[in-house]
Amino acid sequence: MSFQVALNFEDGVTRFIECGPHETVAEASYRARINIPLDCRDGACGTCKSLCESGSFDGGDYIDEALTEDEAAAGHCLPCQMTPHSDLVLRIPSTSAAAKTAPATHTATLCEIRRHSSSTVEFSLDVDDRKALDFLPGQYVNVTVPGTDQSRSYSFSSGPRQKEVSFLVRLTEGGAMSGYLAEHARVGDRIEFTGPMGSFYLRDVTRPALLLAGGTGLAPLLSMLETMTQSPAAHPVHLLYGVSSDQDLVHLATLDDYADVLPSFSFEHCVADEASSARHKGYVTSLIDAGTLHGGDVEVYLCGPPPMVEAVRGHVTSLGVTPSAFHFEKFTPGAVLATAGAAR
Ligand code: FES
Repeated sequence: MSFQVALNFEDGVTRFIECGPHETVAEASYRARINIPLDCRDGACGTCKSLCESGSFDGGDYIDEALTEDEAAAGHCLPCQMTPHSDLVLRIPSTSAAAKTAPATHTATLCEIRRHSSSTVEFSLDVDDRKALDFLPGQYVNVTVPGTDQSRSYSFSSGPRQKEVSFLVRLTEGGAMSGYLAEHARVGDRIEFTGPMGSFYLRDVTRPALLLAGGTGLAPLLSMLETMTQSPAAHPVHLLYGVSSDQDLVHLATLDDYADVLPSFSFEHCVADEASSARHKGYVTSLIDAGTLHGGDVEVYLCGPPPMVEAVRGHVTSLGVTPSAFHFEKFTPGAVLATAGAAR
């Protein structure tokens, strides 16, 4: 029996390793030829100190100079000493290059193209070695656009345990992937991608969660919801989904399905276009108040274009509420711009 440990590096690269119940995470990392930071290997120096964001473990033996009680209480850990009791997600204090590793490359076959509307397309891939592909719900990969040397970043809209992997794309005039999907893409095409990447991923749901999506920023949140169907959250999970116009609205039926199978899940959507037939017109900020933020006892996951991310952050600040955690990811049609997770 072994557990899966996700090592998330400072540059967003994530590598997954198998770790036995009596093996330290450091031993398992080195077995996988991943050189996470280490010095004493004895719980004395603190060089390996990392942050455990998900899972349970035995912290092992160490001295206070390496890891204080307060640090341990805040989730910090020493990979040279810790042994897993469950699957783990660790933030490692180095880049992937410093640890002599890199994002994995995967090859796949295009198996479905779904044209949701004139603005939004979803495509699915049948990955050659699906067992070799692990990711955390919310993460993204860099997809090489077939027939070009360009790559674009897309978050998985599918869950980590689903066989096929899927991605939502907003079509843009002159965009490399947009041009490929609109004119050339055929089922059976070969596609390569690298990853997974990013620190925007679902943590253990230990308090109410507010999911905020702008346009195709819905994709990583769909991946999170799919994951929640495997262990439904005991806390309320509410999603607010904002788009520019009716044609950008996708997956409402999917969200209805999640609301049916996840008792704690609810959602609303809004459309900025005044001509929309949606019940709520305007921006997602109009649907956020102190109540939706549970007075601050909430973990926020926000994915959308930069103006939306900034507008939401400003709005939350203006309400005088400080969420327990605020994770966000900014993207443009062509790339993920920034990911961050921060308690505020
Ligand atoms: Fe020194 Fe882990 S390497 S405490």
